[in-house]
Amino acid sequence: MVEIKGLTKTYAGGRTRAVDGLDLEVKDGEIFGFIGPNGAGKTTTIKMIAGVLRPDTGSVRIAGVDMSAEPVRAKRNLGYVPDTHDAFDKLTGIEYLGFIADVYGVDGPERKEGMEKYLRLFDLQSAARDSIKSYSHGMRQKIMLAGALLHNPPLWILDEPMTGLDPASALLLKEAMREHCRSGHSVFFSTHVLDVAERLCHRIGIILGGKLAAVGTLEELRANAAADATLEQVFFSVADKQTEGARL
Ligand SMILES: Nc1ncnc2c1ncn2[C@@H]1O[C@H](COP(=O)(O)OP(=O)(O)O)[C@@H](O)[C@H]1O
Ligand SMILES: [Mg+2]
Repeated sequence: MVEIKGLTKTYAGGRTRAVDGLDLEVKDGEIFGFIGPNGAGKTTTIKMIAGVLRPDTGSVRIAGVDMSAEPVRAKRNLGYVPDTHDAFDKLTGIEYLGFIADVYGVDGPERKEGMEKYLRLFDLQSAARDSIKSYSHGMRQKIMLAGALLHNPPLWILDEPMTGLDPASALLLKEAMREHCRSGHSVFFSTHVLDVAERLCHRIGIILGGKLAAVGTLEELRANAAADATLEQVFFSVADKQTEGARL
C-alpha cells in the first residue's frame, strides 16, 4: 500500500536532517504505528507520505502510484488528518464535509450516506450545523477524521489521531481503524501513546533522530529486549542502544 525509499528532508535553516534516509513499507490490510519522541521526524515523514511536503530525496508510492510523478492520482488513494487543524474555522461541520465531498467528487447517495455515517459514528450530528470555530479540540479532530474518510480512501494517514479524543471517541476510532483494515485497506498513524500502539498495530516503526531505529511486529521488536517485553520496554531499549551507539 505504501512504499517509501530513501526519504530525506532538511528544513530551510534546519541544521540536521528532520528525516534521514527512511525506507519503509506498509502492507495491504495493515495498521502500521509510527512511534518516536517529540521532534523525531514523525510529522515530517507523514507530510511527505501524504504529499503535502516535498522530500529532498527519495520516493513515496501509494498503491503503486508515485507521489511526485502523479500527485493527484496518488492522493486519491489516501485520507490524511494532520495533527493541527486551524483551517476551515469559518465553515460549519456539514459545510466542511460538503467541501471535502466536492473536492473528491463524492456524489449521489454516497455523499449523503457518507456524511451521515461519519457524523453519527463520531457523535457530531447535533453540532453539524455549528461553526467549526465553536468546536472543542476533540470535535475538530473528529470532523477532520470524518472529512478524511468520506471518499473511502484505501489508505488512512493519521498524525497523532488519539490526541484530544475522549475515551469513547478514541474507542470508536480504534474500531473504525480495525474495520477499515479488514477489507485489505491500511492505516498509517503516529502516536506517542505506546499502549494504544501495542494493542492496535500489526507492525510498528520506531523513529529516532529522523532514522528508522527498528521496525516489525511487537514479537519481532522484542528481539531488542526481553521476550515478554511491553512496547514501552522495547522502545526504551532501542533508544538506549542508539544512545550507546552514538557514544562509541
Ligand atoms: N517547519 C519546520 N521548520 C524547521 N524545522 C522544523 C519544521 N517542522 C519540524 N521541524 C524540525 O524537524 C524535526 C522533526 O520534527 P517533526 O517531524 O515535527 O517531529 P515529530 O512529529 O516526531 O515530533 C524537529 O527537529 C523539528 O524541530
Ligand atoms: Mg508530530
